[in-house]
Amino acid sequence: MSNVRPETMKRITTVELADAFIAEQVKEIQTQVGDKKVLLALSGGVDSSVVAALLIKAIGKQLVCVHVNHGLMRKGESEQVIEVFRNQLDANLVYVDATDRFLDLLDGVSEPEKKRKIIGGEFIKVFDEEAGKLEGISFLAQGTIYPDILESDGVKAHHNVGGLPEEMQFELVEPVKLLYKDEVRVVGKALGLPASMVDRQPFPGPGLGVRCLGAITRDRLHALREADAILREEFDKNGLATKVWQYFIAVPDMKSVGVKDDKRYEGWPAIIRAVNTVDAMTATIEEIPYEILHHITDRITHEVKGINRVLLDLTPKPIGTIEWE
Ligand code: XMP
Repeated sequence: MSNVRPETMKRITTVELADAFIAEQVKEIQTQVGDKKVLLALSGGVDSSVVAALLIKAIGKQLVCVHVNHGLMRKGESEQVIEVFRNQLDANLVYVDATDRFLDLLDGVSEPEKKRKIIGGEFIKVFDEEAGKLEGISFLAQGTIYPDILESDGVKAHHNVGGLPEEMQFELVEPVKLLYKDEVRVVGKALGLPASMVDRQPFPGPGLGVRCLGAITRDRLHALREADAILREEFDKNGLATKVWQYFIAVPDMKSVGVKDDKRYEGWPAIIRAVNTVDAMTATIEEIPYEILHHITDRITHEVKGINRVLLDLTPKPIGTIEWE
């Protein structure tokens, strides 16, 4: 398959078009792969999940999915990968809980780019080790999509810390590389993936690592994950999840004083960020009804140990980037 999308290629917007694409890709994958084995790093994000589902349909257990849990996933994400791919789709899935490796390496590291490098570097190491344990792998599948090909410039390279090393000597299988994101989602739905997986908001490769600001500690990371889960639950319930492009919590490495049960209570603030954008280059602030904000504040400050304030970030991009670090 060439890297240029033919002008005649229709935008995949319906189940029928998705089904036709799937049938065509299944044939193409079967021809390319034959009876050989394919390896895939399955993050649980939209693109790798759709590629996994396509390959499972085409070659079943000849696909080996490796899910590396770097300990910086959002609440329930690794569990969902196991549930959907191992339990429901009966995939050949290697699950690696590398939480301790990542958090030990990140211990005391506060500089954002250094954190990113550690996370990206360790990801490759863990994946490489797992690949080395497997025999007879000839292909590497990747969730490359068309914007990745169009935008393979400096900005993206900086962001793609989850990328795999070039020296990996595998032939590539990239079945969705000519598709735009919205098309990948339509194909994912036609393949039967759950909406919560296919409609996921963008999530950075270094995960919660760049939202647990400064040097990551396990207790603050835990508080961040719980607060983020509450935010997501409330956005879902209140119809904001489909309206807002990206929304999350960041927890800085600082404490303030509060009162709880008549005692002084030092805690971290949870910062809400909810933005809308088309291409992530610029972003505007979504207006969240105060009633919902009060409810989220109440839940987070009462349910999450360690958090005693909730703040709202009103800064558009520019001047504030979407992530805090
Ligand atoms: P910023 O913070 O630069 O983010 O406004 C723009 C978009 O990119 C995501 N982002 C990342 N994605 N690795 C990624 O894969 C990263 O290191 C990274 N940093 C930011 C961010 O979530 C937003 O969607």
